Parts: sequence; C-alpha cells; structure tokens
Amino acid sequence: MGTDVKVISKKKPNASELLRSKLGKLELKTPLTVASGTFDMESLEFFDPACLGAFVCKTITRYPKKGNPPPRLYETEAGLLNSIGLQNPGLDAFVADKLPLYRQNLQMPLIVSISGSSIDEFMQMIEKLESCPGISGYEINISCPNVENEGIAFGVSAEIVYSLVQRLSSLTQRELCIKLSPNVSDIAEIAQAAEAGKASSIALINSVFGMAIDYRTGVSRIKKGIAGYTGIGIKPIALALTHKTAEAVKIPILAMGGIYTWQDALEFFWAGASAIAIGTANFVNPLAAPELIMGLGGYLLEHKLSISDIKGRVKI
Ligand SMILES: Cc1cc2nc3c(=O)[nH]c(=O)nc-3n(C[C@H](O)[C@H](O)[C@H](O)COP(=O)(O)O)c2cc1C
Repeated sequence: MGTDVKVISKKKPNASELLRSKLGKLELKTPLTVASGTFDMESLEFFDPACLGAFVCKTITRYPKKGNPPPRLYETEAGLLNSIGLQNPGLDAFVADKLPLYRQNLQMPLIVSISGSSIDEFMQMIEKLESCPGISGYEINISCPNVENEGIAFGVSAEIVYSLVQRLSSLTQRELCIKLSPNVSDIAEIAQAAEAGKASSIALINSVFGMAIDYRTGVSRIKKGIAGYTGIGIKPIALALTHKTAEAVKIPILAMGGIYTWQDALEFFWAGASAIAIGTANFVNPLAAPELIMGLGGYLLEHKLSISDIKGRVKI
C-alpha cells in the first residue's frame, strides 16, 4: 500500500486530471458547461465536445411557448438584452423529438432545464422525465411567475423555493440543480432554502433586469420593455452573488454571468464555484468553450493547481 501511494504521488499531474470537478452527484470531466438557452447541439460542430463537462439544454415548459414578439434581442455597450420569453416546443415534443437526438449525439451528461408555473406543473414534468433514460440531472429555472402566488416569481420567495425543491427532490435521484435569479434582495436566503429542500447544487445567475431605449425616438429597443441583461456587464454582479452564495451553502455552485475567458473562469472558482457555464460569450465567439478549457488547463498545469485548491479561497 505504501508503495502505491509513492507511485501516485510521483506521477506528474496532467491537465485532464486537474480539470476534473464535481457538481453534486455528477462527476465532470471538465468544469465547463453551457448556459441554458445560449447553445445547442449544432454549435458542437465547431469544436471537440470533450471540452464540455455537461450539456444544459434550453428551458422546457409543460406546454409549448411561442415566446415574445420581436425585437427581443439587443446588443448593448456591455452585454446583451434578451426577451425570448422561454420559447420552446413543450415537454411532449421535447421528449419525442429532441431528447432522442441529445441521447444519440451527446457524449457528456445531459442536464434538462425545466420551468413551470405551479409546483404541480414542475412535479408533473419531473415525473415524465424520470421515465426517460439518458438524463443525468435537472436544472430548475425558478425565474418564472408562479400562478398560485399572483404571478410572483418562484425564485424570490424562500418559502416557495423550499416547498418546490423539497417536493422535486423526493421524485428523483438525479442531479437537482436550482437556478437562481439575481433579482432578489437576499440570494443567500434563497440558496439556503434550496439546500434545505435537498437540492444537490445551485446554478447562478440568470439574467439581470435591463432595458435600452433609442435616445432619438424614445422607443424601447425591446418590444416588451424590460428584458434580461447578460454578458460582460454582469460579471461583477455574478461574482459577488457566487461569493455570497458560497459563503451561505455547502452544496456546489455552477456559476455563470459574463464568463468569456479562462481568466474569468478562475475568478469564479476563487469566488466559490465548482463549475462554470458560458452563455452570451457563445454568441460572440463560437470557440469560447474550447479556448476557455485550453487556457484553464494550461494555467492549472503550469501552477500545479486543481480547481478544489482555489475554490472559495478568495483573499479579502
Ligand atoms: C438568448 C438567451 C436565452 C436564454 N434562455 C434561457 C433559458 O431558456 N433558461 C435559463 O435558465 N436561462 C436562460 N438564459 C440565461 C443564461 O442561461 C445565463 O443564466 C445568463 O445568460 C448569464 O450568463 P452569461 O452572462 O454568460 O450569458 C438565456 C440567456 C440568453 C442570452
């Protein structure tokens, strides 16, 4: 046994070993995934999919959604505004058409993002998805209005988050990742409610409220007015909320919000993330994911660091 230990410790680490991470129940070959709604399988044609530790699909709802009317995308000076409105084919079409394609083509764990307008609706969705093989986990998007609570978003009430997560966790053994909104007064309280309900990880952040107006005409750049703001401008907000959440809970954090490069990724690990996702950067640079992993692997190797060596160790 002593000899074995010696042999292992003498072995030089390689980048693949240093890049390994864990998100709740999932062992990730790399800590990188893609933010829901910003990436689909076609984009994998541009690079080696092995750079992704997991794949998160666009949020699915129980029934199809047409989404919001255009204009619903606007590029600001520092990031993107979107008002897609969860456009998706609905759960049945997803299971019949999209899921088999994911199963055939993805070599990494698939995390299915879902959203609902009541606790029952979320439960029905999980029940149906539980009967489908090839799904490693769920990302629960709680930024949606809850019909039982006068349209208040699920994600802003710790009590509702607790009730929701507690019921969902009783239905599945798969990874249960709760995606938090930044548009709340105390994200730590919401994250703690998710943890108490037995979530196995937290994803954050979803988009920040934002707006853009044409200064000449006074017309909103987005048809619906207020939209979701993402990309480079929200990185400081996402970092602060990652740090705050990491201080408040023990379950791992999948962080996102303005991550474009491997240097950005490292900042999020220092803040407390176990894994990270690229969102808006995918629109700016289709090679953002492989470039990030190459750079991150090189840095970790050069400094003989693993992600767990720096996770949450920001110096303040
Ligand atoms: C065009 C677009 C569509 C999105 N759709 C979803 C979605 O369906 N579900 C979801 O949870 N988040 C959605 N998001 C939010 C992202 O998953 C991510 O949380 C956010 O963009 C922050 O990361 P980023 O700054 O790297 O883009 C969307 C973002 C964009 C830009």
